[in-house]
Amino acid sequence: RGMSHEHHSNFYPWLKLEEKITLKNLSIDKDGFFTLEDLELLIDDKTKLVALSHALYNTGSILPLEEISKILHDVPFFVDSAQTVGCIDVNVSKINCNFMSFNGSKWLCGPMGTGLFYCNRKSSELLEPRTIGGESAMIYDDTSLAFKELPDKFQTGFRNYVGIVGLESSANYLLDFGLNNIREKNKYLSNLLREELSKIPKIILYGPEDPDSRTSIVSFNIDGMDSQQVVDRLEKQNIVLALREIMEQKIVRASPHFFNTESEIMSVVDAIKNL
Ligand SMILES: Cc1ncc(COP(=O)(O)O)c(C=O)c1O
Repeated sequence: RGMSHEHHSNFYPWLKLEEKITLKNLSIDKDGFFTLEDLELLIDDKTKLVALSHALYNTGSILPLEEISKILHDVPFFVDSAQTVGCIDVNVSKINCNFMSFNGSKWLCGPMGTGLFYCNRKSSELLEPRTIGGESAMIYDDTSLAFKELPDKFQTGFRNYVGIVGLESSANYLLDFGLNNIREKNKYLSNLLREELSKIPKIILYGPEDPDSRTSIVSFNIDGMDSQQVVDRLEKQNIVLALREIMEQKIVRASPHFFNTESEIMSVVDAIKNL
């Protein structure tokens, strides 16, 4: 979806395969959306995979994945859900994707370096492990090797058990709070932030207006001010926003989550007013 609009994690791996495959890119609008007709036009009987992010890292736009998977029929569908798992309810059966991956350290609030890869049983036949090790295979007839059953087949060596336990504990904490409660709180905080920022002259807001079409990411610019400088100056006041980009344009990204408070949002707004 637009080479410079997709997160690099969901672009470089496909680019690396370019000797073997042809990459096709969808045209997108300013928020990163595309029409289902445009997607349909790109698909033919040679299409090996459709890879999309569930929500965009720069505008927070949420794609209508359930509608998309309906038009894909049997074309394998990969979803990068790093920007949605932990902040909205994600259901692989409803989305009807073949593959999904996400990291644990983002909206799930889990340890760095953890993440999950999902693959439905039927689609696992499409995958060949790129590595082999003591945990993923068996030896027979002294020298012959066979992969173990799923999921061991893809788990070559010992895993980061400490990280996995940490991730489980984060997931349980979020589930106790309730994903719908998290979504509602996040909507409230991001709507408040957008509303307050829109009152400040020189602020340019990005991303969809409709709160149902975006996560709580709020991206903006201050006209006439360098975005890196905005991020640096706020960081000196212990306000951590991120420098990101929408196409070529550098932007500032706020990602409030359920543990943030209304008064923290108002402090950020005040700090931005006083820059
Ligand atoms: C859409 C998306 N995919 C993937 C990632 C992370 O991928 P990795 O764990 O490879 O850094 C991010 C951000 O961290 C992201 O926003």
